[in-house]
Amino acid sequence: MEIANKAAFVTGGSGDIGAAICTSLAAAGCDIAVGYTGNREGAETTAAAVETAGRRAAMVQLDQSDPAQCEAAVAEAAAAFGRLDILVNNAAWNIGIPFPQLDDLTIDIWDRIYDTNVRGPFALSRAAGKEMRKQGGGRIVNIASVAGLSPGGSSIAYATSKAALIHLTRCLAVALAPEITVNCVAPGLVENTRMALRLPPAVAEGARQRAILKRASSAGDIAEQTVMFCRADSITGQTLIIDGGIFFH
Ligand SMILES: NC(=O)c1ccc[n+]([C@@H]2O[C@H](COP(=O)([O-])OP(=O)(O)OC[C@H]3O[C@@H](n4cnc5c(N)ncnc54)[C@H](OP(=O)(O)O)[C@@H]3O)[C@@H](O)[C@H]2O)c1
Repeated sequence: MEIANKAAFVTGGSGDIGAAICTSLAAAGCDIAVGYTGNREGAETTAAAVETAGRRAAMVQLDQSDPAQCEAAVAEAAAAFGRLDILVNNAAWNIGIPFPQLDDLTIDIWDRIYDTNVRGPFALSRAAGKEMRKQGGGRIVNIASVAGLSPGGSSIAYATSKAALIHLTRCLAVALAPEITVNCVAPGLVENTRMALRLPPAVAEGARQRAILKRASSAGDIAEQTVMFCRADSITGQTLIIDGGIFFH
């Protein structure tokens, strides 16, 4: 798809990776609806970067754990630029709970993680798909995690929610074909993000050392792959791992 002069909605645009995705899509010529929940200042900074890149920006507040807000947010994003061509399901919620501490993973926490990280992207994709079909098609890119591929990450609920997002990618690729492609990026450690900075230094260094490139990724790496998935016409249902090359997580 030629993505110049298209319109994109990026959830979690106030966050570290979301901001990079917004900036890269803007540099590629897209107008951007910047999704955020509580960090309005972060969303404003991202919107300013989009405008600096020469594109229009809008800010869309939503709590995607609420399906009604997902529908409303997609409608608002589409109305901002009169069309919607790209949805990036980047937002997620997590909390650190070591795997063996099963009793600390309460049902309320479990539900909040699943409502935000799985049901939210489903509800947003369903609504966005209808908008995209109005102009013949579009692109959906989900941001998962290597935690969805092997048992690791901040909690069991987070890891399994990302596994669900990876499979949701394949299922939505079937549901929305042939007009809309649905792909997924699964990052490992992403340097200089709040999520990464919360890790014990030894865990972060372990991820770098296990990678054959002896490095982790950057938010820019995730953003550029998102742009590539938006451009690609013959790729759907795929998950690309970006982790510096770790073959066994
Ligand atoms: N950083 C890493 O090392 C890493 C590794 C693997 C995967 N990932 C994935 O990459 C994505 C982005 O992560 P990040 O590091 O950029 O995280 P981040 O800086 O913490 O940003 C998270 C974003 O999600 C938004 N969000 C949280 N709850 C939400 C809700 N209920 N409804 C709508 N938006 C909500 C936040 O909005 P507000 O701040 O405005 O409230 C924020 O914009 C996530 O899917 C994460 O799982 C990150």
